Amino acid sequence: MSTLEDRIAFAHRLPKAELHLHIEGSLEPDLMFRLAQRNKVDIPFGSVEEIRAAYDFSNLQDFLDIYYQGMNVLRTDEDFFDLTMAYLNRVRADNVRHVEIFFDPQGHTERGVQFDTAISGILTAFKLAKAQFGVTTKLIMCFLRHLPEEDAFKTLKQAERWLDHLTGVGLDSSEVGHPPSKFERVFAAARERGLKVVAHAGEEGPPEYVREALDLLKIDRLDHGNRALEDEGLVARLRDEAMTLTVCPLSNQKLCVVDDMGAHPIKRMLDLGLKATVNSDDPAYFGGYVMDNFRAVIEALDLSQDDIRTLARNSIEGSFLSDGEKRAHLSAIDRA
Ligand code: HPA
Ligand code: ZN
Repeated sequence: MSTLEDRIAFAHRLPKAELHLHIEGSLEPDLMFRLAQRNKVDIPFGSVEEIRAAYDFSNLQDFLDIYYQGMNVLRTDEDFFDLTMAYLNRVRADNVRHVEIFFDPQGHTERGVQFDTAISGILTAFKLAKAQFGVTTKLIMCFLRHLPEEDAFKTLKQAERWLDHLTGVGLDSSEVGHPPSKFERVFAAARERGLKVVAHAGEEGPPEYVREALDLLKIDRLDHGNRALEDEGLVARLRDEAMTLTVCPLSNQKLCVVDDMGAHPIKRMLDLGLKATVNSDDPAYFGGYVMDNFRAVIEALDLSQDDIRTLARNSIEGSFLSDGEKRAHLSAIDRA
């Protein structure tokens, strides 16, 4: 068995994709401060240290309250551009070669920032990052599940003229009490428009929500999915359907979805034949980017080189890249 440092270096070297990243959750405290000043927005923090000290959560809702407050500094397309560029530059250092990014349009439109402002800033950064250092990107817009389905339909309408630039729709925010069934119709409408569909399920919600995401939303990929492990039949189904799970270890630790990293289920998922991947979710809030997440699970669960290679392969196979693009990344992984 190679040393821990060797295995971390191996994980670093492999080409990887990140499939579960909320761009608003990559807003680092220093950029939050700068944007607050630039836009003359009041924030309830006096320093970067005070912001970091506030990031102490005991569940998903604690985090969401601060996450929606933080995004209030994002006002102009330049702000969304700066946010997205900072993230893409950061993950480049982790050898992340492809990213599928979530954004929360309703988190912006409900405070008077136009859908077009947010998406155009993000897409300008995508174009520049591709030209500057070759990273490929896809964009997924999430519906906020604590809001009515009717609002999600309005958001889908605002997205109509951007459909060529959108890969899919997702479902995020407060899970418990807002099951996938609430969004069955709007997901059907998204699928009719040729969009891929993904959903957060089984982060705090029960296995039944994962079943609804499969049966009613007809998801192409499952975000989190931790609690699916409580149901053997569901595990068998996820394995048989080769469903990709976008797992977020440091997020799970910060939001108390797991007791500690030693109890994280990602190794068990791999051993059960599930297509788990490693992702950062909201890196500015949860203490790290993709490689920080790899490091945490490699260390706590003593992952082998084979486990690490499988996780990297799963990230490419579970992406929405074309078969040809996947093959190129997979052969680079196999050569490493
Ligand atoms: N879960 C649900 N909603 C979210 C998350 C998450 O981990 N991050 C940003 N919005
Ligand atoms: Zn998430």
